[in-house]
Amino acid sequence: MGTSVGNTTDGRSEANRVLIFDTTLRDGEQSPGISLNRAEKLEIAHQLARLGVDIIEAGFPIASPGDFESVQAIAREVEGPIICGLARTSKLDIDAAWNAIKDSQRPRIHTFISTSDIHIEHQLQSTREDVEGQARAAVAHAKEYLDDVEFSPMDATRADAEFTAGVIQIALDEGATTINIPDTVGYTMPHEYEAFLARLYELVPDLRGVTLSVHCHDDLGLAVANSFAGVRAGARQVECSVNGIGERAGNASLEEIVMLLRTRRADVRLDTEVTSTELARTSRLVSRLTGYPVAPNKAIVGRNAFAHESGIHQDGVLKERTTYEIMDATTVGLQSNSIVLGKHSGRHALRNALEEMGFEIDGQALNTAFKRFKEIADLKKQVTAMDLEALVTDELRSEDIGGYTLHSFEVEASSQRPPHARVSVNLPEGGTASGSFTGDGPIDAVFQAINAATGVAAKLSEFTIGAVTEGQDALGEVSIVLEVDGFTGAGQSVSTDIIDAAARAYVRALSVSVARARVGEQPLGLPETAAP
Ligand code: KIV
Ligand code: ZN
Repeated sequence: MGTSVGNTTDGRSEANRVLIFDTTLRDGEQSPGISLNRAEKLEIAHQLARLGVDIIEAGFPIASPGDFESVQAIAREVEGPIICGLARTSKLDIDAAWNAIKDSQRPRIHTFISTSDIHIEHQLQSTREDVEGQARAAVAHAKEYLDDVEFSPMDATRADAEFTAGVIQIALDEGATTINIPDTVGYTMPHEYEAFLARLYELVPDLRGVTLSVHCHDDLGLAVANSFAGVRAGARQVECSVNGIGERAGNASLEEIVMLLRTRRADVRLDTEVTSTELARTSRLVSRLTGYPVAPNKAIVGRNAFAHESGIHQDGVLKERTTYEIMDATTVGLQSNSIVLGKHSGRHALRNALEEMGFEIDGQALNTAFKRFKEIADLKKQVTAMDLEALVTDELRSEDIGGYTLHSFEVEASSQRPPHARVSVNLPEGGTASGSFTGDGPIDAVFQAINAATGVAAKLSEFTIGAVTEGQDALGEVSIVLEVDGFTGAGQSVSTDIIDAAARAYVRALSVSVARARVGEQPLGLPETAAP
């Protein structure tokens, strides 16, 4: 039964360990505009393993060949957590999920079907009897492959409790080892969710023998509160995502759940095995690779989550930190800027620093990182761990993308006339191409000049600009999402020059979109209508 836990006489789990099921790479990746490639997903999965999550939902293998390959690569390479693949109830879905995850040391299949009448009638255009049959067949088929099978009655919180309980019983009879209760549309309230789970425990006594899981969406801003209510009702697995990314308003935020349980451990008597000092770094990585910025006031990982603006607060914290801080920033890995290199640091020092941060790079990748490090160290007095992290996530990824790279650019900007840019781009087939454009602003001119050089009519859909650290000589960081013929791609870059960072990020995003458009593969291009 793997992840199931012990129980009290009233049917509730008594183990004080809450399993963290991370769905950043599946539900999170379904956020509009996010499209991670295989290398990026692998990088996030390795970081999730370092963070110490229990389960990684690596993707939805039937959704596209790219999704399948990413889940397979994660299953083959990432050690530690259970690697889970999502599947609808069809045999094809379950076969795809199994084939993608079977090389993991700890594979799991997560299968789901809706139990709410609104979904059954309008989306599945089916009947309750059919849903029961599909749930039974799906779990039974998955069990032919492996022991660890999770079942979710989708939209459960808007479904009839008795019917949902019946479907759960069927899944249990077929051997499901985790039952997850999704609040798919983020509709429920904490007291209702707690009562709903309590009712399910009453209706399905066999739930006591398996792990109960919660999966809450944030449409009303209640995902974390609802997840916590679920834990209070006995759930011992929380499905969540880094920075709370996910469908629509997103999922419960992993860092908030983890720090809620850790900070209030004495009262709730529950905790996770997550290494909390990795939270900030994981958040930054996910934000960089997805192009989804983290709000400055976001709990736990926002830039201002530990900043004190008012004089009274500053005064209090200086006298005694706990006057206005319930957590220490170092416990979530903020302010972990201990590594400092300078322009005289050599390749060896860079490699050691990167190793200390968990990046093992050698050969050409180290050469590339070193070249960029030197460029930056020449312009910046101190290169910190945060700078290195941004640089390495930026540089290493570009190796895998292939496609176009920026050769050089020139921009003329003045308050007297519209800015003009000339760019030169290295082509994937060799050689360079040039383009120029007079745009609305210097960055717009560069982007349009890149379009002219490559002959690709890319459309910008997201543009985020920020600074990696504080101070005037901070590295600028740009994330871009753009669209080519309906295919989206994201790109990021860092540089001491923000136009340079923007141009590099744009060329990367363009390369990803063009590659996608060529293969004709859009993430989550599901064959049928029932995307979760
Ligand atoms: O929100 C949802 O219902 C889901 C299921 C697939 C668990 O994501
Ligand atoms: Zn979901």
